[in-house]
Amino acid sequence: MRIDVLTLFPEACEPFFAASMLGRAQEAGVVTIRCHNIRDYSTDPHRKVDDRPFGGGPGMVMMCQPVFDAVERLEGASGVAATRVLLTPQGERLNQKVVEDLAGHDWLMLIAGHYEGFDERIRVGLNCRELSIGDYVLSGGEAAAMVVVDAVVRLLPGVLGHGDSPREESFSGFRGPPPEAAGCGDPFHGACLLEYPQYTRPREFRGLRVPDELLSGDHARIRAWRAAQAWQRTLARRPDLLSAAGFQEDRQACRDDAGTETDDAQQVH
Ligand code: 6GU
Repeated sequence: MRIDVLTLFPEACEPFFAASMLGRAQEAGVVTIRCHNIRDYSTDPHRKVDDRPFGGGPGMVMMCQPVFDAVERLEGASGVAATRVLLTPQGERLNQKVVEDLAGHDWLMLIAGHYEGFDERIRVGLNCRELSIGDYVLSGGEAAAMVVVDAVVRLLPGVLGHGDSPREESFSGFRGPPPEAAGCGDPFHGACLLEYPQYTRPREFRGLRVPDELLSGDHARIRAWRAAQAWQRTLARRPDLLSAAGFQEDRQACRDDAGTETDDAQQVH
């Protein structure tokens, strides 16, 4: 995969892309990530990239020319079009399904804005998908571009060490049947659940003990405990994930049960 990030602050993005999993993925040749300074493509003598909004109002708007030229110059060199993505708070909200879709493209061109926004003709004229990373406002799209790149690249084949890692985690469709313990009798197989709690050594830390089920060595019991925990957590913290997937029945009963969610580590008496 190739990812180009167009930004006014490449120096803010580059160290992030060079570190950890993203750095290793690039060294392994799974992905090539390049940052480009939009200002380098401005034809203005002062390298201007923004101007005042028509109709008045506060702030500045990103101009068409530098962004069009950057995209067209980068793509022109290769003869194919990238999947173009504008990062703005007005965009479609990013979730794991969108991430999975993006991971299926060969070439992403992520465009991070600053100021009050982009001239609308950038989105329309460059046929950009528009993404937001959540319902809050950032001063610029750089942090959002980093979020998208991280979430996408970790899904590419060969990037995560353990082949199973992306499957049983939050939002990616850990689909344990709802266990008796969650108080939901009706089996439901469509929801993406939050992940169950994890523990590592020591077995006891400051009086907090690892749940007996995980120490039992009984794999069926461990699986059942984890499924119960995943359901209870999802019901207690993110019932929207279940209702979005069409899970309606007996929700109140489930939530009452999950509402008593306690810390799983047990006190030593
Ligand atoms: Cl993509 N950009 C900005 N500026 N703010 C945001 C965002 C993006 N997503 C959430 N808030």
